[in-house]
This record gives sequence, structure tokens and C-alpha cells, in this order.
Amino acid sequence: MNKKTFYITTPIYYPSGNPHLGHSYCTVAADVIARYKRLAGYDVMFLTGTDEHGQKIELNAQKENLQPKEYVDKLVDEFRQLWDIMDISNDRYIRTTDDYHVKAVQKIFKKLYEKGEIYKGKYEGWYCTPCESFWTQAQLVDEKCPDCGREVKLTREEAYFFKLAKYADRILKLYDENPEFLEPESRRHEMANFIKSGLNDLCVSRTSFSWGIPVDFDQKHVVYVWLDALTNYITALGYSSDDDSDFKKYWPANVHFVGKEIVRFHAIIWPAILMALDLPLPHKIFGHGWLLFGDGTKMSKSKGNVVDPQILCDRYGVDAIKYFLMREIPFGSDSVFTNEALIKRINFDLANDLGNLLSRTTSMIEKYFDGILPETIEKNAEDNDLIDMAVSLREKYIGYMEKFQFSNALAKVWKLISKANKYIEETAPWALSRDQKQNNRLACILYNLCEVLRIVTILITPFMPNTSPIIADQIGATDEVLSWELANKWGGLSLTTKIKKGKALFPRIDMQKELEELNRFVN
Ligand code: MSP
Repeated sequence: MNKKTFYITTPIYYPSGNPHLGHSYCTVAADVIARYKRLAGYDVMFLTGTDEHGQKIELNAQKENLQPKEYVDKLVDEFRQLWDIMDISNDRYIRTTDDYHVKAVQKIFKKLYEKGEIYKGKYEGWYCTPCESFWTQAQLVDEKCPDCGREVKLTREEAYFFKLAKYADRILKLYDENPEFLEPESRRHEMANFIKSGLNDLCVSRTSFSWGIPVDFDQKHVVYVWLDALTNYITALGYSSDDDSDFKKYWPANVHFVGKEIVRFHAIIWPAILMALDLPLPHKIFGHGWLLFGDGTKMSKSKGNVVDPQILCDRYGVDAIKYFLMREIPFGSDSVFTNEALIKRINFDLANDLGNLLSRTTSMIEKYFDGILPETIEKNAEDNDLIDMAVSLREKYIGYMEKFQFSNALAKVWKLISKANKYIEETAPWALSRDQKQNNRLACILYNLCEVLRIVTILITPFMPNTSPIIADQIGATDEVLSWELANKWGGLSLTTKIKKGKALFPRIDMQKELEELNRFVN
């Protein structure tokens, strides 16, 4: 039987500076979902990449006296290296300078032109280069870009236009009939209001600079960078190429993860382009919030905090960073990043709660049973609460993961971890160990703790793929007992497997010392 497919994408990032923690945020979230779906048996396609054309990149390259391609090559290496370091499991990486993409965009542009969806005219209006966005006079706020508040430039040039305005009603109807198309709900209301305030046709070519995909039938035009960029989601699958089998297999996407400031492009322009091409629409656009840095913006010009993801992964391990990003910040909301909050999570959730549960469990099994539990264990009704909570966890976790509520999913897992730590206090295995007659009961308690750890290991794998094998190894769990199918069943572990206590999963960090140490990196 063919597996069910799942196609997830991140935005393609502008290689206009080094990747920072804000970029990692969405990529980590998409990686978690990709891993979760693979674990649950899906055939996953996970796409990320870089958006390499446009005026902003051309200007940045000029400032460094480089050709645009040389400039982006250097930065794309940085992005790819970061995804390697962060163990991002993308199946494909698209660069919009890739030849296949360039050809496909030219074909798409021509097709839209031939269908009468694109026409030639004259553009007169305002342009925000950092956002690569067109605005009318009425849309400006204090004469600045309404999205980012920066300077806009008056632009007058011959241009091709896409008939966006005529799709307004269809898109509003789409939001009404399929509210799940755009989430969270607040973004849907925002977009509906934006459309209702009046949609103009969209300028889709530029003539005042050259770093872009040439319109092949009118070479002085380059394709507007957002048309070039949005189509990556289908060109990466081979749309309009000789081999479009992946397109047939994976399109429409299950979800596009995007930051809240680019929801407009994904929830209005992108569906309109797809409608014009007679293609199915993605199932969902999810607009997540921003990680805010020292100066209260999404840009990583930190004041007093180290936000370089490479330094952070180096110091605390990539799994700790991923855990923090997914646990601390509800996916649809903004949240301020501080080193202190990160260290707190590492100390409390990872070192104390998870780390202690593992080390206490494995040391007691080593101490009382030489690392191997006896086959006779004695069940007791007082264990039922713990067991029920453990076997029912997967269902609750699924409920949250399907809604991209990462923080809630992790909170549920940690509730079980806390319950197990409390179970240790309540059952006091050290007291039972002094009474030979209690041996079977003692074994049962320790087995229960291992089972909790086994279920926890499965469910944290999408978030912390490097940590779960370490726990698995210490509790002697093989791949078979770590399957998704056994995540809601009790009794997966064999009694006679050897427990091996290892070193602390997440060593505790001395907050004061560490914050002082981090000052070294802050300028
Ligand atoms: N190239 C376009 C996207 C084209 S997708 C067809 C673009 N690139 S970007 O590099 O400026 O931003 C890419 C993504 O990174 C956006 O979704 C943006 O929200 C996200 N982030 C950049 N800084 C961020 C934070 N500080 N926090 C969370 N995400 C932020 O827009």
C-alpha cells in the first residue's frame, strides 16, 4: 500500500545576511513536523531553500563589490551549514538561481501571459526594497512602508501586471468556506480586511535593475522576486519540467509555514497565482510569530543577548536549542528571546525533570539489580494513574501536533515526566530496597519508570533527535520498541535488557557564571 504523503515547506530565506536564530525558528518547527509525520508513517517531502534574486540582493552585492551570484553563493553556504549543524532533515533544498527553477519560472510567466492573466502596462507607485513590496500612496503609513516602517522609493517603469484584483472574491470565499486554509484565525481576519480594502493588480516584472529571472519573451524585464519566490513550492517538485512525478505525488502542499509579515504574499498572491494556473491550492498557510531580540524587533541586532544559533548550538547542544524554541514560544505568537530564559529551560526542564528521571531510574536499576531487572515483577493498583497517563499521552500529543501547538505538546510530555518523578518520591524505592520481600515490587516500580522513559523517548524524537537515542541506549530500548505504534502501549520493554547508566543528559548550567561568560560574545 502506498504511504500517505505529507508536503511541508519553510519560506525560502533571503541570503542577504548571515542566518540568525529567527530564521532557525521556522526551519526547526518545520523539521519537527517533518520528523513527526515520518515517525507516524507518512511519506514526507520537506522543502527549504533560498530566495536569491531581487533588488535588495543586487544592492547588497554592489556594496561588497561582488557579482550577485558570488555574493549569494557565500551566504547560501552559511545557511546550508547552519541547517547541517541543526540537524535539519529537509528532503530538498531549492535555490532560486538553480537552472531548473529559472526555466520553470519563465514557463509559468509565459503561460500566465498567454492565458491573459498577465498584461503589459506602466507601474507608478512606491517600492519598499527590504520587503520587495509595492505600495500605493494610500497604503503608506507616514510616507513609509506599512509593513516594516522603512523608506519607500517612488518607482515609475514599464511593467507586466498580474490580474490579482479579479481574484479578490474567490479568495474571500476560500477563507469563508475553508477557514483552515489560513491560520491562526487572527491572520485570516487581517487578510480578509486587507482584501476588502481593495486589491490592485500586481506588478510582476521590473526593468530598473537586472538581478532576476529574465522574462524570456521580453528580455529587458526581470520577473518580480515574489512571483519567482512563491513558485519555488511547485518548481522544486518538478512542475512544468520533463519529470513532474514529485509534483503529482506531493502537490498540493499540506502546509506552508511562514512568518506573519509574509502571510499576505502567501494567503493572497499565492492562491491567486495557483488559481490562474488552474492548480490546486495548498491545504494550509500557517503564519507564525516572531522571535524578538534585544531591541524589540525581529532583526537579530541583539542588545545584551547572544543570538547566533551556531554559538548557542555549540554551547548547549542543538537539541536544547530546538527544545527551547518549540517549548518557550507558542507558534502563532511573538516572544522575546533572552539567554536567561534559555538557560532556565535547560536547567529546569532538561537537566532537572528529564535528566534526573533518567539518571535516578538507571542508577537505581544498577544499584539494586546490577542493571538487569528480575523477571518477576509485582503489579499494584497504585501504578494505574501513571500507566494511564503514559498510554493516553500519544493521543493528546497528536491533537496538539496536528494544530502546530508545539509548546502544548511538549508541556503534556513534561507533565508525564513530572508525574514519574513524583512517583519515585511516593513509592520511595530506596526504602523498599532495604526489605528483601519487597524485591518484586521494587522491580515493578523501576520497570514502570523505564516504560515512561520509553514512551517519552518516542514522543520527543521529532524535537530532540539526538537525545532520544542516548536515552534509548541507557534504558536498553531497541528500535522495535520505539516505534510509533508502541507509543500508546504499555509493556514494550523486555525485562531482561541491560540498563546502562550514562553521563548526564543535560548538565546543569550555573546561570550567573554563564551569563557573565556570554558577555564575551556580546558587543
Ligand atoms: N524571501 C522571502 C520569503 C519568500 S517565501 C516564498 C523572505 N525572506 S526572509 O529571509 O526575509 O524571511 C524568511 C522568514 O524568516 C520569514 O518567514 C520571516 O518571518 C522569518 N523570520 C526572520 N526573522 C524572524 C524572527 N526574528 N523570528 C521568527 N521568524 C522570523 O521573507
